[in-house]
Amino acid sequence: MPLTVGVTRESHPDELRVALTPASVSELTKAGFEVVIEASAGQGAVISDQDYVDAGARIEATRDSVVDAADIVCCVRALGANPDNKDADLDVLKKGKVLVATCAPLDDTAAMQSAAETGGTLFALELVPRITRAQSMDVLSSMATLAGYKAVLMASAQLPRIFPMMMTAAGTIPPAKVFVLGAGVAGLQAMATAKRLGAVVEGYDIRPVVKDQVQSVGAKFVELDLETEGSEDAGGYAKAQGEDFLQKQRALLKEVVSRSDVVITTAAIPGRPSPELVTEEMVQAMKAGSVIIDLAAERGGNCRLTEPAQTVVKHGVTISGPLNLPSTVPFDASRMFGKNVVTLLKLAYGEQELTLDLDDEVVDGTLAAYAGEVHNARLRSILELPERAPKTEEGAE
Ligand code: NAI
Repeated sequence: MPLTVGVTRESHPDELRVALTPASVSELTKAGFEVVIEASAGQGAVISDQDYVDAGARIEATRDSVVDAADIVCCVRALGANPDNKDADLDVLKKGKVLVATCAPLDDTAAMQSAAETGGTLFALELVPRITRAQSMDVLSSMATLAGYKAVLMASAQLPRIFPMMMTAAGTIPPAKVFVLGAGVAGLQAMATAKRLGAVVEGYDIRPVVKDQVQSVGAKFVELDLETEGSEDAGGYAKAQGEDFLQKQRALLKEVVSRSDVVITTAAIPGRPSPELVTEEMVQAMKAGSVIIDLAAERGGNCRLTEPAQTVVKHGVTISGPLNLPSTVPFDASRMFGKNVVTLLKLAYGEQELTLDLDDEVVDGTLAAYAGEVHNARLRSILELPERAPKTEEGAE
């Protein structure tokens, strides 16, 4: 019996993405899955029901009928990633059923516990290990790429200047100066996009190893006189720093921030509030009309004056704290999300059986809940649950 993959309409009111696109449906049907889509699920991403039917899916009129028909339900945001409506997708989870979604597992560990108690299987897409083999399944990376790109477009639309240098009969216009703070996936894409638009771009990250990457996208790496050795953990993430370090960092950043027309902040520490890197005093030192786009707004922001989901003008500087930029380019965001999900489904369920290979590092790492237990090792440690025995032979049934 082939497994059936279902896609429901997003329960988050502002979410325009959809978990699978027609291209991902075709890939799944070729791999032997059946696919059911809730009517109008693709509307926000400008995908019609007919597009899905043409790709080999069946349309079901209601959410309940999709959930009944599907062994595996996919959506973009569930549980902790849908905080105002976090139980909306919990009904999917029961023994023998699988939910695949982003669900902010590290922020809402209680929801992971509730998910485990249902006996269903939950793949939390944020937990996909950051290893080379898993890059094609990594929604954090694909969405961060889009956020970095869109942040630059937002900044350019708000700035009362143009980005490129222009030599015209009406005189020469100097290029805008863009500074990107944090050179992870979003930051590097922001630097590359600002460079393509003609700005002079500088970048900084607490992890000195990213200097080459910053330079490879055409930006100048800003060197600060800070002791950053050991700032990266074994997984490649930045470690949280103490207040003394951050104070010194802010003092050193002030000069770069104040000479920039645009500052895009992306600094994050997984599972923690964002470090505060741009103070009110630094904003005051910027030229009137400058723009800050704070991509860390979801976790409080890197700028003291950021108001999440708002655009405010403080001391003459426009500060935006967008919360879901990928959803502003829903077609391509869904295309990338769908491709990531399909690659994971083919890895985990390609044999058309619900039993999982827990020896696979990607499957094992991405499972938030399985066989009645919280599964991912980091989640178990946060929840102070005992370590699991190294190998489990149990299936999901
Ligand atoms: P992130 O979203 O967790 O953080 C963004 C950036 O903020 C990071 O580069 C971090 O170093 C920086 N940051 C944190 N505190 C800072 C501070 N006080 N000042 C300045 N910068 C600060 O990062 P993201 O994009 O998720 O990448 C994390 C790591 O994972 C990187 O090493 C990246 O190369 C790696 N990665 C690996 C992948 C793979 O192999 N499959 C896929 C994607 C990322």
